[in-house]
Amino acid sequence: MELIVAVYADWGIGKDGTQPVALRADRKFFRETTRGAMVIVGRKTVDDFPGKKPLPNRENVVISRTVTEMPGFTVCRSVEEAVQYAKNAPRAMVIGGGRIYEEMLPYCDQAYITKLGCTVECDTYFPNLDEHPDWVASTLLEQGEEDGISYEMWLYTRK
Ligand SMILES: NC(=O)c1ccc[n+]([C@@H]2O[C@H](COP(=O)([O-])OP(=O)(O)OC[C@H]3O[C@@H](n4cnc5c(N)ncnc54)[C@H](OP(=O)(O)O)[C@@H]3O)[C@@H](O)[C@H]2O)c1
Repeated sequence: MELIVAVYADWGIGKDGTQPVALRADRKFFRETTRGAMVIVGRKTVDDFPGKKPLPNRENVVISRTVTEMPGFTVCRSVEEAVQYAKNAPRAMVIGGGRIYEEMLPYCDQAYITKLGCTVECDTYFPNLDEHPDWVASTLLEQGEEDGISYEMWLYTRK
């Protein structure tokens, strides 16, 4: 299983249920990287999707203990159920948020990480993989600058 996330310089990823700063280049990278994959998402992050609708052209799986049905989504009641269900897909990607990243990181062996060159006040963080003994930044896939903010898209792999 794989994951994809955009982190600020201090590995913050969100505040008040949304991403305070998001770049067009990163949205494009996200669309292209997840195209055709099964995406697995926490219920709170779905609340931040436009119209709370599933992402188009991808199978959407939401993890929730409180919601039993969500149009356009397959609902899983636990991380273990989602991991089992994802075995049906040729490619499955965890797309957040904080709680789901934390719980599903042990099941992932590749992580697409956009590093944004700014620090923004956050209440949700991703584990710092640069200090994680099991992970290494293996390939720089893309880099640039947008609206004065530098960005780098890295592929991290499990050692
Ligand atoms: N920077 C990025 O790339 C990125 C990407 C995605 C999200 N985000 C940010 O992350 C933040 C949201 O993260 P979050 O941690 O608050 O919420 P979240 O991970 O999106 O969703 C948490 C919800 O998932 C369900 N859940 C979690 N663990 C579960 C388990 N073991 N079994 C069953 N259900 C489980 C629960 O839903 P119920 O309450 O329904 O039971 C829980 O409330 C937002 O600020 C968002 O913008 C950032």
